Amino acid sequence: MKVIESIAELRSALAIFRAQGKRISFVPTMGNLHEGHLQLVRLAREQSDIVVASIFVNPLQFGLNEDWEQYPRTFEPDCEKLASVDCDFLLYPREAEVYPTGMANQTRVSVPTMTDILCGASRPGHFEGVTTIVAKLFNMVQPDVAIFGIKDYQQLAVIRKMTTDLCLPIEIVAAPIARDHDGLALSSRNGYLDEFERPIAAEVYQSLCLAKSLLDEGRRDFGAIEQAAEAHLVNHGMRIDYFSIRRNHDLEPAGLDDTNLVVLVAVYLGNTRLIDNIEISL
Ligand code: PAJ
Repeated sequence: MKVIESIAELRSALAIFRAQGKRISFVPTMGNLHEGHLQLVRLAREQSDIVVASIFVNPLQFGLNEDWEQYPRTFEPDCEKLASVDCDFLLYPREAEVYPTGMANQTRVSVPTMTDILCGASRPGHFEGVTTIVAKLFNMVQPDVAIFGIKDYQQLAVIRKMTTDLCLPIEIVAAPIARDHDGLALSSRNGYLDEFERPIAAEVYQSLCLAKSLLDEGRRDFGAIEQAAEAHLVNHGMRIDYFSIRRNHDLEPAGLDDTNLVVLVAVYLGNTRLIDNIEISL
């Protein structure tokens, strides 16, 4: 695997393969890689000839009181992991390469309708930071296909919308959620959990399973189901940001006629924010 820090170098390296008609895939990440990220790279490998991953902890998508400084930076083990799944190129740009004009990087990409709900409601500006960096990374790599995890359901939906709206010739592929043995969705932020919080964190997935089993039984009183799941989380010492049964295509609240649903949850356990979701077809 070749590590590349400059956009110009990346462009010339990829131009050779593009000229040969090779299919290029892209897996953007913020590093501190775990099995979930590696699954994305494996999928990219299956879908293309050349696999490009990136590691960039994007300041623009972190709020003022969020964990940008604290976010784990683990470059060397990340490189080993990427090489082990046969990644060809790692784009590892410095902040000045991505935002050469610093705060004078005026241009923002935003997808307004989908980003003021759910995670967007409690993290103002977050999704604009995500879509802006992903649009920039797409322009650097110009991939044929890009892989994103279903774990970040709203992010995936927003990126799909951005790609369609901007007529970007990039296929967006969704990768399933990689979970730990007890169901906890893998996340770089799980490392913030202490030894007491870690077992409790599995209850986030249990709350989704509870909602799924009630929906599978035929219950359609969405509000009551949400309340039951929230009570489960609160009883385990978590603070609810949201627990919501939504339509999967536009993330609007589910109605009785909707058959393709997604149940989304965000909680705080101590200082750690955890998100998860489960798709349900009725
Ligand atoms: P990051 O949190 O590092 O995640 C990178 C990719 O890995 C995302 O597509 C995310 O959905 C996926 N992922 C994370 N945990 C996963 C899991 N348990 N199972 C499957 N996929 C998982 O998401 C970001 O970085 C950033 O917002 C980024 C898109 C890179 C823009 O900065």
